[in-house]
Amino acid sequence: MSARAKILVAMLGLLVTPSLLSAQERPLAATPPMGWNSWNKFGCHVSEDLIRQMADAMVKSGMKDAGYQYIVIDDCWQVERDPSGNIVPDPKTFPSGIKALADYVHSRGLKFGIYSDAGVKTCAKRPGSLGHEYQDALKYAAWGVDYLKYDWCNTSTQDAQAAYALIRDALDATGRPIVLSICEWGTAKPWLWGKAVGGNLWRTTGDIGDQWESKDRHQLGMLDILDQQVGIESYAGPGHWNDPDMLEVGNGGMTTEEYRAHFSLWSILAAPLIAGNDLRDMKPEIHDILTNKEVIAVNQDPLGSEGRRVMKDGDLEVWAKQMQDGSRTVVLLNRDTTEKQIGFSWENVGYPDHLSAGVRDLWKGRDLGQFEGKFSATVAPHSVVMVKVAP
Ligand code: GLA
Repeated sequence: MSARAKILVAMLGLLVTPSLLSAQERPLAATPPMGWNSWNKFGCHVSEDLIRQMADAMVKSGMKDAGYQYIVIDDCWQVERDPSGNIVPDPKTFPSGIKALADYVHSRGLKFGIYSDAGVKTCAKRPGSLGHEYQDALKYAAWGVDYLKYDWCNTSTQDAQAAYALIRDALDATGRPIVLSICEWGTAKPWLWGKAVGGNLWRTTGDIGDQWESKDRHQLGMLDILDQQVGIESYAGPGHWNDPDMLEVGNGGMTTEEYRAHFSLWSILAAPLIAGNDLRDMKPEIHDILTNKEVIAVNQDPLGSEGRRVMKDGDLEVWAKQMQDGSRTVVLLNRDTTEKQIGFSWENVGYPDHLSAGVRDLWKGRDLGQFEGKFSATVAPHSVVMVKVAP
């Protein structure tokens, strides 16, 4: 290519750089959405007071500065429909109404999300949106909703693709940009059609439990969900993400090291980072995990490439993600209960062996030096070492 042609291409590239586009033109969820959702910690115990306090805590704790944006009320904000079919928020728990709450969240510089369901009823048996899709979408837009999590309970013989396409059309018809979070638990393989129907993220599995791995078959653990991400990596990209469910970091069922592993893995998977803990009351070590800038930058890398497992040897695994600047982020995962040495070669992560590369430990925030051909580290039980490899 001639020098002039190169300059032209660079200028065109600049024209479509997301940061130079206006908010209206910028693609929704160009990087994995970051925020907070009420379900994992509070279940049905939601109220406007709780949501306001969480918005305050998001700002005060530094989570907002770290990149978290959406405050999402999950199930149980709604109680019935009025005679005209309008959805009615619970007057006891949301006495000021949803518009006032959304305004409050926006006044804190955050975005506001809400929950509904494609069926007759939600999973907690509140009214679903079936037959009211356009009416609900208009209401959400009037309230100032920026994000909709749309669940799949009580959908009987409905077709998932058609149901999610319908709500997307209804949201689009309002003219307000609203992120669509498809919550269909992976049953009808939404990674195959989620992007085509305009979904911005889609759950790939059943609900996450606050545990390292499943102790029985009723509740998935973090590692069970991780295993189910293998093979669907290429379906994710800017604007449309695989969603291995919300974070359990800080909810008490795992150790700090296990939570660090959970957060590292969700980051390298380019998963939505939706915190699910009580932001008003975070232990310092939990705060440090959720706000680690270098780890979050891996998740938010503009290339939007989902990391994948490149090596598995029993309980020892290596996960790698390609970054926009050509570097790789690598997570060494020790699923075992004793300390282990875990290594990988440059070939494992797509580099020629002779390359000399700088390795930086992201959790320690420390450069480890130049390495050639391979790298290995001692990894604590149920823990990770996360490094960036830059030739
Ligand atoms: C389903 C979803 C959860 C949560 C609950 C609410 O189980 O998968 O994430 O939204 O419903 O009832």
